Amino acid sequence: MSTPLTILVVGATGDLARRKLFPALFACYARGHLPTDVRFVGVARTSLTDTAFRSKLADGLKCEELENGACSLAAGEFLRRCHYRRCEYDSIGDFGAADAWLTALEGGARANRVIYLAVPPFVFGPAAQAMSRSGFLPRGCTTEPWTRLVVEKPFGRDRSSYDALQCVLTDICDECQTFRIDHYLGKEVVQNLLVLRFANAIFEPLWCRKHIHHVHITWGETQGVAGRAGYFDQYGIIRDVMQNHLMQILSLVAMEPPVRLEADAIRDAKVAVLRQIQALARNDLVVGQYTAGSTSGGRGYCAEEGVPPDSCTPTYAAAVFLVDSPRWQGVPFLVSAGKGLQCNQTEVRIHFRDAISLFDAALADLPCGTSGNELLIRVQPDEKLALQIVSKMPGVRMMLGVTELDLSYREKYAGVRIADAYESLLLDVVRGDRSLFMRSDELETAWDLFTPVLQQLEQQKIHPEPYTFGSSGPAAVHELAARFGIPDGQGGLAG
Ligand code: NDP
Ligand code: BG6
Repeated sequence: MSTPLTILVVGATGDLARRKLFPALFACYARGHLPTDVRFVGVARTSLTDTAFRSKLADGLKCEELENGACSLAAGEFLRRCHYRRCEYDSIGDFGAADAWLTALEGGARANRVIYLAVPPFVFGPAAQAMSRSGFLPRGCTTEPWTRLVVEKPFGRDRSSYDALQCVLTDICDECQTFRIDHYLGKEVVQNLLVLRFANAIFEPLWCRKHIHHVHITWGETQGVAGRAGYFDQYGIIRDVMQNHLMQILSLVAMEPPVRLEADAIRDAKVAVLRQIQALARNDLVVGQYTAGSTSGGRGYCAEEGVPPDSCTPTYAAAVFLVDSPRWQGVPFLVSAGKGLQCNQTEVRIHFRDAISLFDAALADLPCGTSGNELLIRVQPDEKLALQIVSKMPGVRMMLGVTELDLSYREKYAGVRIADAYESLLLDVVRGDRSLFMRSDELETAWDLFTPVLQQLEQQKIHPEPYTFGSSGPAAVHELAARFGIPDGQGGLAG
């Protein structure tokens, strides 16, 4: 806390920087989690003065539980510590000049530096190389002042581009200074998955093919790609969300108990389960693209600014994975992700097998798809763990109903602030704690699962199924689910 610190965001004019990084940095700063001698620097190609940069950031700063006066005071102090510099991302000269400028800002001696690459992924390699060659990003992490590099996802476009990027990074940085971020690993409920599974005696014996019928991991966003088409159209939803955020969640749900509660042991267990999954087959994948709907401002995906009118980029994907292990053999993991859907939600639903029930007759009265036990793990919004059970409805007759044992964070932890994922992960970078960051072999394995099907989609220019903006996604997902014995109305497919 006593060593001066600079946090530098490359791509500071972008969506991630404005909506997530600077608000998270402000929250860390306002709560006193950063050294007193700290500054925040934005770098991008756009020409901006410090004043213009600060006013762009100001709207995004929130401080829920700080009183109004204290909040505007803290926001003013924070913004005065924010600086901006124009830079071409691949220019050794620009980064060399930025280094001298920054050292002066740091008081003449280099501070510890966090460099955050918040740019489209094709810029990661050239920017890291230019920073390294200019001396802006020195190699090594054992002594102060250190320089740490945070790299956003997606790491590459497929296995070979990932390997190429990794090659560039290992040429430049030591592993201990490289932080490959997947912010879903910093989300409160995702961090709770290990605890839920391994600190509660009731779940582990049931967590297997004998008792679990299927698992559904859903991710949905109501917004389209507005403003991010330049990046999104080259990547699509599989690379944007499924290969990283959702495979990380899947591996935490499906992995064997780690041998120790240590970062590397947990990553070993995650890689092991990813290696037990076969590469995704075209047949087990549905891709979709949103068309105009009443809430899309009359625009479908192909009419978004920056999207070619004949784009085949999927904005929705649903896939079934089978984990070839004694624990999971035959249990489908249905994983779906879409933009322009009817609601914002990230959930895991563990659907248990039906009981061999004395109550079959009474259960038959329940609406289709609602019988049985389901464990809901809601990552966002409104974090929640809930176990659906069948219960007798109060009354003189034997009527059954479905109800929930419900741990809603909002009610149970009323008044407790749930930090944004970026806050905890940025603090981990400053502390040098890499446990929630990804190891290279996790990414290699995750790319191996998707690379063949991504190539097939692109080489054959396969047109995604249309779905209306604001709906629940393409109809074909129901057929995919049915093929794996997942009925409509279960696993979050309803509606
Ligand atoms: P943006 O599209 O907003 O791009 C960020 C900045 O990069 C832009 O402001 C622009 O700055 C520069 N840029 C854009 N296009 C190009 C280009 N073709 N060539 C060179 N520079 C370009 O992206 P995001 O901020 O949304 O995302 C950045 C990274 O963060 C991505 O890897 C994304 O996957 C990841 N991410 C994003 C999240 C989000 O919520 N947005 C969440 C999690 C991860 P300028 O023109 O001024 O140089
Ligand atoms: C990012 C994706 O990784 O995650 C975006 O690039 C997406 O497309 C974002 O909107 C969602 O993050 P969160 O934390 O809002 O769920």
